[in-house]
Amino acid sequence: MQKSRPLSSILASEQVPAHLARAVIEEKLRNAILDGRLPSGMALRQQELATLFGVSRMPVREALRQLEAQSLLEVVPHKGALVAALIGEDAVDTYALRLLLETEALRQSIPLLEPEDIALARHYIELLEKQNSHAEIGRLNRLFHMALYAKATNKKLLHFIEVELNEEERFLRFHLSSMGLGKLTQDDHRALADAASDKAVDAAIGVLERHLNKASETIKNYLNRRSDV
Ligand code: NI
Repeated sequence: MQKSRPLSSILASEQVPAHLARAVIEEKLRNAILDGRLPSGMALRQQELATLFGVSRMPVREALRQLEAQSLLEVVPHKGALVAALIGEDAVDTYALRLLLETEALRQSIPLLEPEDIALARHYIELLEKQNSHAEIGRLNRLFHMALYAKATNKKLLHFIEVELNEEERFLRFHLSSMGLGKLTQDDHRALADAASDKAVDAAIGVLERHLNKASETIKNYLNRRSDV
């Protein structure tokens, strides 16, 4: 249904000064992709956007290139720039796997954590508090979690976790923009650091379960809603 809506009904045009055109167009498209107004698979055409914003194709092409670099667009031969899928059907599986791997990492790591490790984790929580850039939030979230797993004795386990956390950086963009999960997530992060500091392994695992299940539920709801459209 949404796919048939013309671009002009989704993105209000405005007279953009030429020197700001790329930045303004990039920002408008990014927001519309992240909040779902531009659905995945939708083709964005340079000429259509240039007409809408009353600019030449050059700033449009540049804006699309930036969004492609942020993996928000996918350039497909003969089809052009398509809005990328932010969440694949495998996202729920990713969270289930994270839960298995990360609870084990906590179990191994917590007894061996030093006060410096906890301090580092808390430092990332504080940095997250001040951060607005989605990419940076994704990175700090990964570093926070890894700080608490750092002393896990199975290094191969840590490697697998890092791969899954990198995956999650993609989903996070989506959460943050459409769910406003930021605050809730930080409460979990604090509870997790506290439990780790107390060497309370079971409590920490409980918090982590809640933390990851929350994200997983959000994604399930989103996927269900999407298939209803
Ligand atoms: Ni987190």
